Amino acid sequence: MNDAHQSPDPKGMTVSAAPDEAKSSARAVDSLPELVRFHKVTKSFGEGPLARVAFQDVSFLIEDLPNEGELIAIVGPSGCGKSTLLRIIAGLRPHFPPTSGEVKVFGAPITYPGADRGMVDQKYSLMPHLTVRDNIAFGLMLRGMRLKERCDRAGEWAKKVGLEGCEDKYPSELSGGMQQRVSIAATLILQPKILLMDEPFGALDPKIRMQMQELLVQLWKEQQSTVFIVTHSVEEAIYLGDRVLRMAAKPGRLVEILQLPRPDISPEMMRRKPWFTEISQELLLRLETDAPASGELPGSDKWR
Ligand SMILES: Nc1ncnc2c1ncn2[C@@H]1O[C@H](COP(=O)(O)OP(=O)(O)OP(=O)(O)O)[C@@H](O)[C@H]1O
Ligand SMILES: [Mg+2]
Repeated sequence: MNDAHQSPDPKGMTVSAAPDEAKSSARAVDSLPELVRFHKVTKSFGEGPLARVAFQDVSFLIEDLPNEGELIAIVGPSGCGKSTLLRIIAGLRPHFPPTSGEVKVFGAPITYPGADRGMVDQKYSLMPHLTVRDNIAFGLMLRGMRLKERCDRAGEWAKKVGLEGCEDKYPSELSGGMQQRVSIAATLILQPKILLMDEPFGALDPKIRMQMQELLVQLWKEQQSTVFIVTHSVEEAIYLGDRVLRMAAKPGRLVEILQLPRPDISPEMMRRKPWFTEISQELLLRLETDAPASGELPGSDKWR
């Protein structure tokens, strides 16, 4: 892949327009171990004339930063392959394996889903017949942890996600936002090094959504895991993302990787800043027009 589109970045804040894995990060340092590497990855469903390309020729590299993780937001129009990309990292069929190219996690080819990767999807995936506590503790039970210890840990996690007092309730007794928090706790309790989230806050009302964004940033700082989050909200991508992978459709492909500074204020406050609106509008425009990679987002130098 060429690097013809790579733009200069005087402030160190963006941008690799050419999503080549060797050049995809302003932070890329040769000595850092690899976390996730895609090299010329294409995924098609079906065969022959009926084959449908989900995405093609996707390359990027996410490094394993010492003592911290990264938040990688993935944005793009419906059908461009965002969920497919996430599920390939998770090792979930039929998305995995890719049709061609190479995907590595921790420097080794993926062969199956692993405890190092946790997935939170839009459907919350809770077990309706289990209480909040048992849903959160389910993965620990599968790992053979003793009842008392796993219940204690699940109680701690219920508290962390703001569900203290709800431990004995069933999913049907909870709001969508509460169910999503159970789902996040049930995944994070297993301490995956890589957390994969597919539109996790899509069904929540705006206020709860912002609370969940803040909670995610807080938990993610504690866990030091790397989070991949698919979202249709450009604001969410810009607020949460250290890097934003922008994809385009027909054919599904990775168009650019934007590097953004970390938020140090709440999403509510951030949304009131004029430059936040400016950046969001620019990203929205690029998404709507399927614009080619075009460099730094205006206003990102005023971020802090
Ligand atoms: N299991 C499957 N079998 C066949 N085709 C599939 C399958 N999963 C996805 N596809 C196709 O692959 C393409 C990408 O789908 P994907 O779900 O990854 O898109 P997406 O970007 O997540 O879309 P959305 O934003 O609507 O969730 C689509 O054309 C879709 O129809
Ligand atoms: Mg999807």
